[in-house]
Amino acid sequence: MGAIIEVKGLRKEFQIAKRKEGAFGAVRSLFSREFTTKLAVNNVSFSIQPGELVGYIGPNGAGKSTTIKMLTGILVPSGGEVRVRSLVPYEKRVENARQIGVVFGQRTQLWWDLPAIESFELLQHIYKVPPEKYARNMARFKELLGLDEFIQTPVRQLSLGQRMRADLAAALLHDPEILYLDEPTIGLDVVAKEKIREFIKEINRERGVTVILTTHDMQDIEKICERMILIDKGTVIYDGPVAQIKERFGKQRTLVVDLEPNGFGDDLAVEGAETVKREGNRFWLRFNRDVISASQLIARVSERFAIRDLTVEEPEIEGIISRIYQEGL
Ligand SMILES: Nc1ncnc2c1ncn2[C@@H]1O[C@H](COP(=O)(O)OP(=O)(O)OP(=O)(O)O)[C@@H](O)[C@H]1O
Ligand SMILES: [Mg+2]
Repeated sequence: MGAIIEVKGLRKEFQIAKRKEGAFGAVRSLFSREFTTKLAVNNVSFSIQPGELVGYIGPNGAGKSTTIKMLTGILVPSGGEVRVRSLVPYEKRVENARQIGVVFGQRTQLWWDLPAIESFELLQHIYKVPPEKYARNMARFKELLGLDEFIQTPVRQLSLGQRMRADLAAALLHDPEILYLDEPTIGLDVVAKEKIREFIKEINRERGVTVILTTHDMQDIEKICERMILIDKGTVIYDGPVAQIKERFGKQRTLVVDLEPNGFGDDLAVEGAETVKREGNRFWLRFNRDVISASQLIARVSERFAIRDLTVEEPEIEGIISRIYQEGL
């Protein structure tokens, strides 16, 4: 079978009105003809096979949401091609909407003042979901997402985790083949994140739904995705297995220690770790957890210095990207 999503040389630029300085600057900007151009997505290409679970990853402002908006047909590209099951999303928005589900973690698609159940019923009518299919899907989503405990509550009163669960159910009521998730775990606690991850994996497994998700959480990627597309400044810098990136960078941890004042220099010179940063009495020590465990490293540091406080940091997207630039893949 061919690709379900095909993107070639995709570009999006935004015209931004230049702000005028001084009194009434904002007002004068309204009449200004001066614009600057922001290239948000620059020559992005990828193709996605049916049933894939792909992480679309990058730092703030990388162009992730802009890409998703072009895939869903909300935005018209400035150049290049997008095809979703061979149709062009922005030309056939309604047809495209039937085959996709979308969740923007930052903003609900549900009716704010209505109980969640009424939003589901409205969506059933909008998408003309047959009653049996609606009943079957609702039963399954209630089971997987525990919707019953809050389904009668107005959306505005839901916790963020509950709202996200409701949004996921809403996006899937019409049995779309593709699910776009833009930061579906943003702001959630560990338990709520885990629930969402399990649900995404289950939906992919039992219905073969193709999933593209953006996230800043490395755990989301490791636990959900097999493939990741890394973008930075609008351009793809990696497209391949998550395992390869994880193998290469996922074992790095950083021990952050606050030490009692002492005559130390900029480099703590602890065996098994590299001092990557210092601010006053706080040091960042990078280590590979296959080479040394966090507790071994802490023991080594405390043999020579008095530790006041410490934390162990997981690798972050930003760190991984800067290391890809420094060291290559
Ligand atoms: N409507 C718009 N008008 C002008 N500039 C925009 C618009 N939407 C996005 N941009 C700019 O395009 C760039 C990419 O934005 P985008 O929202 O796609 O980033 P992102 O990867 O989703 O970031 P984040 O992780 O913060 O959500 C940013 O520099 C942003 O300021
Ligand atoms: Mg975004």
